[in-house]
Amino acid sequence: MSLWNKHAILEKNSIILTVGIIIVVAIGGLVEIAPLFYLRSTIERVEGVRPYTPLELAGRAIYVREGCYNCHSQMVRPLRDEVERYGHYSLAAESMYDKPFQWGSKRTGPDLARVGGKYSDEWHVAHLANPRSIVPQSIMPGYAFLSQAEVRPEQIEGHFISNRRGGVPYSPEQVANAWGDLRAQVNPDAPTLAAFQSRYPGAIVRAFGGNTSAAANGTVTEMDALVAYLQVLGTMVDFRTYDARANIR
Ligand code: HEC
Repeated sequence: MSLWNKHAILEKNSIILTVGIIIVVAIGGLVEIAPLFYLRSTIERVEGVRPYTPLELAGRAIYVREGCYNCHSQMVRPLRDEVERYGHYSLAAESMYDKPFQWGSKRTGPDLARVGGKYSDEWHVAHLANPRSIVPQSIMPGYAFLSQAEVRPEQIEGHFISNRRGGVPYSPEQVANAWGDLRAQVNPDAPTLAAFQSRYPGAIVRAFGGNTSAAANGTVTEMDALVAYLQVLGTMVDFRTYDARANIR
């Protein structure tokens, strides 16, 4: 029997064929995936990426709850057309505190990885309330109720604890102050503002949802949280100073 004929044994016996396929796919998987666990360049070293503030983290939870990921990816691929449209391609380090990550591959709407700072808060509030008031052809659903829904303490405390367990380096102090810090971020007059800013250097402070008087009274809406999250997306790394070659070893 020649070597070619021996192949018939595999083709005629489904169990042996299945075992063979599993072995071949396992080798392929090991070669592709295993190096990622020990290559130091898998997550590049970058300046500026910090864990989300309580307000941003609450906004992120609302983003996931409302299923925004069903229409929006958060990963700019390293292809010329994407980079020209959205900006610098996404770095692994930029989602290292995203549990779970929101990369996605479904783009009914545009990628949102770099939407932070692209529009004003007012734009986001009007667009989220009724997308067609800004983009007449839009098929995005409206989320006007977010301006009425108040963020409650239990919405953030559990997220902090589970993110910490998942490896996000929140200090016990950050966990203990999560609710106060959440309200400080929408109120530039908050007495705890300095403490908040020392815990989250560089975080933007303002009434993102537009209701300044409610924010000053300690009322935070889901609109505040979601817009705060959208406004920080893709803004933590300063790409004027980022040098990709510095990470090649
Ligand atoms: C059914 C699909 C769908 C869902 C669900 C959806 N969007 Fe969109 N979104 C779109 C489409 C289509 C556009 C482009 C038209 C427009 O701007 O309205 C868009 C545009 C946007 C933009 C403007 C992006 C840019 O760069 O111009 C933002 C921001 C946005 N969506 C946020 C959200 C958020 C936050 C949620 C969840 C609360 C959400 N979207 C849910 C379809 C969707």
